[in-house]
Amino acid sequence: MILLDGKTTSNQIKEEIAQAVQQRKTESKKIPHLAAVLVGNDGASMTYVNSKVKSCERVGFKSTLIRLDAETSEETLLQEIEKLNTDDDIDGFIVQLPLPTHIDEQKIIMAVHPDKDVDGFHPINVGRMTLDLPAFLSATPFGILELLERYNIETSGKHAVIIGRSHIVGRPMSILLSQKRPVGNATVTVAHSRTKNLKEITLQADIIIAALGIPEFLTGDMVKDGVVIIDVGITRVEDSSKPRGYRLAGDVHFESVSKKASYITPVPGGVGPMTIAMLLKNTLLACQNKDNT
Ligand code: GUN
Repeated sequence: MILLDGKTTSNQIKEEIAQAVQQRKTESKKIPHLAAVLVGNDGASMTYVNSKVKSCERVGFKSTLIRLDAETSEETLLQEIEKLNTDDDIDGFIVQLPLPTHIDEQKIIMAVHPDKDVDGFHPINVGRMTLDLPAFLSATPFGILELLERYNIETSGKHAVIIGRSHIVGRPMSILLSQKRPVGNATVTVAHSRTKNLKEITLQADIIIAALGIPEFLTGDMVKDGVVIIDVGITRVEDSSKPRGYRLAGDVHFESVSKKASYITPVPGGVGPMTIAMLLKNTLLACQNKDNT
């Protein structure tokens, strides 16, 4: 069994991005600038956003963090988005999800200019991706493709089973893996909460992407020998033996599944760090796209 080390791989990608930024500096080109909007005080979201901002510093990007309190109205948030849309120094920005329930998430996603939508959530980017056109790819599926590519894992002709159909991970992952692209050409099954006989399906899978958000859901008896496992889940599970009072659990029962897997991502240190690296890659791309305008 080989661990798919997202931490090391993402550090390599960040190093490549840092070099590209240095090169831009020597050519007196614009330095990429990412902004992140965080509404409220959700603990996990704060951790993710801080980590995104810190990663910007590491690669030499400019970054701006906009913190709004949990009671911020939808209208105020839309105004903030408009400011970012029209600020020429900002190359890309993200609005961290989930948002408080009084804000319509879809309306917010639609308000972000597609050229600055480095999360790849806007329908224009999702549509472009679906039609094999250049687009910002949602960072988690993009990171998974990159991890599979860098570990030379064959996807062509393989049966990939994706558990979960979220707009951010499952849905785009299913499209990307089925496309005619270097990491693609897979036969894809999308399983979800209404799927019957899931175990029969997962037992046939060459590659499983677990992205349903239920800790340790996929167990060793549900997979065949040699399977490639990508664990997207990252849930805080209460654990009084830990100093913080919780541990991070993936959607995969690592102990039993890793005994059968050929490759497997750990949690933490697998998909998570890759997501941040690909957000940076999208931001660099957004900046490069403006070079000749
Ligand atoms: N919440 C969980 N994942 C993400 C992500 O990739 N982007 C944003 N904006 N919010 C998220």
